[in-house]
Amino acid sequence: MKTRMTEMLGIDVPIFAFSHCRDVVAEVSKAGGFGVLGVAYKTADQLDTELKWIDEHVGGKPYGIDVLLPNKYEKLGDRRITPADLPAPQVEFMRRVLDEAGIPRLPEDMAANLVQQMLDRINMTREQTEALLDVALRHPIKAVVSALGTPPRETVARLHGLGIPVGALAGKPAHAVDHKEAGVDFIVAQGMEAGGHTGKLSSMILWPQVIDAVAPLPVLAAGGVGRGRQMAAAIALGADGVWCGSIWLGTRESELGPELKERFFAAKSEDTVQSRLRSGKPARVLRSKLSDAWERADAPGFAPMPYQTMLMAEPHLRVERGRESAWQYYPVGQLVGDIKSETSCRQIIYDMMNEFVEAAERFGRIVHAE
Ligand SMILES: Cc1cc2nc3c(=O)[nH]c(=O)nc-3n(C[C@H](O)[C@H](O)[C@H](O)COP(=O)(O)O)c2cc1C
Repeated sequence: MKTRMTEMLGIDVPIFAFSHCRDVVAEVSKAGGFGVLGVAYKTADQLDTELKWIDEHVGGKPYGIDVLLPNKYEKLGDRRITPADLPAPQVEFMRRVLDEAGIPRLPEDMAANLVQQMLDRINMTREQTEALLDVALRHPIKAVVSALGTPPRETVARLHGLGIPVGALAGKPAHAVDHKEAGVDFIVAQGMEAGGHTGKLSSMILWPQVIDAVAPLPVLAAGGVGRGRQMAAAIALGADGVWCGSIWLGTRESELGPELKERFFAAKSEDTVQSRLRSGKPARVLRSKLSDAWERADAPGFAPMPYQTMLMAEPHLRVERGRESAWQYYPVGQLVGDIKSETSCRQIIYDMMNEFVEAAERFGRIVHAE
């Protein structure tokens, strides 16, 4: 296939894989697509190790990284956030909810350490992101994408100076226009059916609006794409490729443990919710007892970024250690209803391309019908 995105990045097919998992990134790039590693939950050392691993396993194929550059967050400066800094009402609420459910507390001698280790991995401020970028630039990354917020012009200029294209996610046309003005090379238009942070507009409405608003910049269509007919719809609406997140979660390469994977396979599309529990900003996750708890009348408000993510470290560890799968939440889009059994990244790309070609042929038959 040839689109402006395949040309820009030297890839075979315009299928992009967002993932927090290095195996997915390497596998999708090896299969001819473009793997993008999310770096927000990694320390600098972890990121360096993961990118080294990708370099060794990606067979020279191009890949990129995705960073969080939110416009609004609590200023942390150089201060290391410790469990004692987390907002008490929300921390206590979570403790009470999990105590009531009989989910064991973390062993007292290890709790502070375990939580601290997780806090140290949450990199969401501009300073932290810049430090991660420094690490990533020691590796042959071929694109950088900004997840939340418009990337600062200086960051865009720095990356352009190194010949690295920059993209940014947008959930509404006005954001996409801001990104364009900051000098990005492509936009990822992400509809509200997507997993992770989302806006309010569905893909079918958003994609053409963004494509028209930022023309002639190329746009990747995200939110609800996991098969060839969805990819054909995106291309028909004017996109130069598709950017997928949820579909890789059901693969054998994905980061999900077996219990959560089984819950995904059993879930219907209506089993996801947009909740602020993960980061303080609305994000689509698999509905769980934990997301329901935040809807209770006695729930406090959500903490601002990045404190909400940080205060969820302890409940996350408790639920994980207790193997309480009904309490586990994880970002996933409405596409979850179509993910029914384990497959591989390579198979997904193969199936997507087959179905895409069938759809394109169908268009051809309709258009050329006598
Ligand atoms: C598990 C998961 C985590 C995500 N985390 C991020 C993130 O850190 N940064 C980001 O730009 N997008 C993130 N996203 C959103 C994806 O980049 C992508 O836009 C979205 O998954 C596309 O919609 P889909 O889920 O229907 O495929 C995440 C998505 C999922 C499913």
